[in-house]
Amino acid sequence: MKISVIGCGYLGAVHAASMAKLGHDVVGVDVDADKVASLSAGQAPFFEPDLPELLLEAGDSLRFTTEMADLNTATVHFVAVGTPQQQGSNAADLRFVDAAIESLLEHLKPGDLVVGKSTVPVGTAARLAERVETTGARLAWNPEFLREGFAIKDTLTPDRLVYGVRPGGDSDAVATLDEIYATAIAANTPRIVTDYATAELVKVSANAFLATKISFINAMSEIAEVTGADVTQLADAIGLDDRIGRKFLNAGLGFGGGCLPKDIRGFMARAEELGVDQALSFLSEVDAINLRRRSRMVDLTREVVGGDLEGKRIAVLGLAFKPDSDDVRDSPALDVATRLVAEGAIVTATDPQAIETARRRNPELTYVATAAEAARDADAVVLLTEWRDYKTLDPAELAESVNVRAIVDGRNCLNPVAWREAGWLYRALGRPQHAPVAVS
Ligand code: UGA
Repeated sequence: MKISVIGCGYLGAVHAASMAKLGHDVVGVDVDADKVASLSAGQAPFFEPDLPELLLEAGDSLRFTTEMADLNTATVHFVAVGTPQQQGSNAADLRFVDAAIESLLEHLKPGDLVVGKSTVPVGTAARLAERVETTGARLAWNPEFLREGFAIKDTLTPDRLVYGVRPGGDSDAVATLDEIYATAIAANTPRIVTDYATAELVKVSANAFLATKISFINAMSEIAEVTGADVTQLADAIGLDDRIGRKFLNAGLGFGGGCLPKDIRGFMARAEELGVDQALSFLSEVDAINLRRRSRMVDLTREVVGGDLEGKRIAVLGLAFKPDSDDVRDSPALDVATRLVAEGAIVTATDPQAIETARRRNPELTYVATAAEAARDADAVVLLTEWRDYKTLDPAELAESVNVRAIVDGRNCLNPVAWREAGWLYRALGRPQHAPVAVS
């Protein structure tokens, strides 16, 4: 099919490349000429495993442009622009979505299908449909559930497809989307056809649930910290109940990134507009628990270096909001690093992929390429993003670089026994100071 993708940021670039991989003829449109130039040259403007290969592999079936007019031959138009948090408010900023739809209108032909992918407040699709339908085109809402780091896989083999269509149903839109996702449909991927509001809510409520699950286990961390319990064993034990499940129960520094934090806030803001703010007031607790973990991490680091961070050398391992990403938007790791600096610590930070993105936001931090360099003469090492490189660090080898063998594991991803046996003071969020009972 001939497809356009409007907005070639994280979501759009991945979607465009994945649609080309599925055999469609795709044009990606973005107002950012640098981004378009980079994508056209087969270079991803951000780190995402497998994306560069897909961009190169696509050949003529994938083009990028800044000209809206270049999408005239496409009949399906995906809208994949960002919906960041508004400055000074919890609400989502819909400027980019509105601008994308408005500039699309003059290029739409009767029978075209516009497909919303951006995460929007419930009610947005119904409003935009009125604009789109003035051209004889139709609107569907098809939320995206991809995770950074697994974005290509999540797009090519999604665990579900959700189509929100106009009131009264839209069999043409459903048939078109089925044709686009023919590979996933053939693999029996569950597909839910629903109304606009439900489709919009599926996306934000899924992210709200995931955020709640993380904050739940982090709240248990707070209890574990005052009772001497071990939150990782607690998570393992409750996670064995398949009604609960072990996924997304990793206690630690909490969630960040461009989605979960702003989506729960945008959801609360929308509920307030709808007069049902009480329904989501628990999400403000979810947000608060999440942010408290960052403060606790700083407290623990201060404690480990003897009560005062002033002049202490701290090695920061990890800056990205999660591994396999160079994204530092609302990154708990970067936040902790800057708070340590604010207390007078001499921070040397590293990350396998996110040094450049972090440097753009926080040029005042000192960045080095490797964990060993960051750890040189350190009074404490803090692990803030659970990259594989850090999970597999050899405690004996790292001990050769540091001044003091002290590590604070902000992601509960190291083996305390191995680190303690190598002579390290090992501290972690939600775990006892003594060695935990061996897990059988
Ligand atoms: C999230 C959702 O998982 C996707 O389904 C959704 O499509 C996406 O947002 C979006 O709205 O576009 P993503 O932001 O890539 O994806 O990251 P996640 O893998 O969900 O992780 C979010 C944060 O939670 C990270 O900071 C991670 O470190 C943290 N996390 C995750 C935990 O602290 N504990 C866990 O057990 C799991």
